[in-house]
Amino acid sequence: MTKLIYSSNHGGLSSGALDSILHSSRSNNDREDITGVLVVGEEDFLQILEGERSAVAECFMRIMQDDRHKDIRIMLAGKKSSRSFSKWSMHCVKTSGAKRAIISRYYIDGVFDPSRMSQDALEELFQTLAACK
Ligand SMILES: Cc1cc2nc3c(=O)[nH]c(=O)nc-3n(C[C@H](O)[C@H](O)[C@H](O)COP(=O)(O)O)c2cc1C
Repeated sequence: MTKLIYSSNHGGLSSGALDSILHSSRSNNDREDITGVLVVGEEDFLQILEGERSAVAECFMRIMQDDRHKDIRIMLAGKKSSRSFSKWSMHCVKTSGAKRAIISRYYIDGVFDPSRMSQDALEELFQTLAACK
């Protein structure tokens, strides 16, 4: 099992664009046995993908070619013994939503800026989100 965490910038997103991203993500990820979470901030995305290494790599290739976001940075990648998000083909968490209090613990200079988060903070945030399910 491989996990990959990346951040990117969308610079402001319509709800229609988010719905369309989630629709194709969920149907592709179901087929490819990929699970994970997409955290959506005012300007940025933070996503964790987990699955077989080749499936995660192919999924990330698709994601990198998507012009709905830019400045894509791999924040963490590695082996995992088991899934943390086995029930979610792609769970969406908005920084303005119900889990706001959890995510705001990881703000840097008062904003959600995933590209500046430490590896420890990323691991801890996703562990906390997994524990909330
Ligand atoms: C922030 C973001 C996250 C995405 N996450 C996934 C994902 O987890 N899985 C996936 O297949 N596509 C994901 N996509 C969509 C892909 O970039 C691409 O649009 C999609 O895979 C195309 O598939 P389709 O032609 O089958 O709709 C994401 C796109 C964005 C912008």
